[in-house]
Amino acid sequence: MTANLIDGKAIAAKIRQKVKNQVLDFTQAQARTPGLAVILVGSDPASVSYVKNKHKACEEVGFHAPQYRLDENVSEQELVDLIDTLNTSAKIDGILVQLPLPDHINSQTIVEQIHPDKDVDGFHPYNIGRLAIRMPTLRSCTPYGIMALLDSTNESYHGREAVIVGASNHVGRPMGLELLLAGCTVTTCHRFTKNLQDHVGKADILIVAVGKPGIVPGSWVKPGATVIDVGINRRKDGKLVGDIDQNSLMEQATWVTPVPGGVGPMTVAMLMKNTLEAAIKRTK
Ligand code: GUN
Repeated sequence: MTANLIDGKAIAAKIRQKVKNQVLDFTQAQARTPGLAVILVGSDPASVSYVKNKHKACEEVGFHAPQYRLDENVSEQELVDLIDTLNTSAKIDGILVQLPLPDHINSQTIVEQIHPDKDVDGFHPYNIGRLAIRMPTLRSCTPYGIMALLDSTNESYHGREAVIVGASNHVGRPMGLELLLAGCTVTTCHRFTKNLQDHVGKADILIVAVGKPGIVPGSWVKPGATVIDVGINRRKDGKLVGDIDQNSLMEQATWVTPVPGGVGPMTVAMLMKNTLEAAIKRTK
């Protein structure tokens, strides 16, 4: 058996195209384009590159997309004041503050300062809480994008064993809520989990989001599983690799995501979708 690849790049391009078409309708009806404000503090190279990608996608779909590049030493209050201004701006539907922030700024304070209706990252406790009670509003982009990847396989969710490795606030935890909502039996593994291999071996749907190359060997994967690798790690030779050691993965699994070109492009596509949804909601 050789696994099929889930082509995140192609699925993300389709989603962006759909958003682009809907932006044309929105603009005609509302006499303005949806607006996404992107805030970057400092000049961390990875963050600069992520923000560049997000801006490129905004231009492609036709959003109004002002960028705010703030100095590394900006105070938390100045950032809060900027968010407050954007929270009340009629032209802005979504606000994204690129993370991580410098240590002197409390990231959670900033995440919670963004109005939940403009929280297009889906990180605000209100939006996470809505997902937890099966009434999703704006959904965290990476888990939401992974659900679109899983949907593309046309495999069912009901009663299947979903195992998530990694319990972060932005990926692992909302991922568990998404899969629970879809009808899976969900297990989340984390640093205190005993017998990781046993849990991984039971997964019909396996999501690995740790950020450590090779943390899950392909040989652990249950035959026939669907495997989503969220990790993006740069090796010393410059090559990008995921969290799953590819050895024997392709013989074990039925569906797998490549790295790069799997989950990565979906996060940006779902950010576009969320911003459009936020804009439409604000017209009602
Ligand atoms: N840093 C890394 N990924 C993300 C993301 O999806 N959103 C934000 N705001 N910051 C990030």
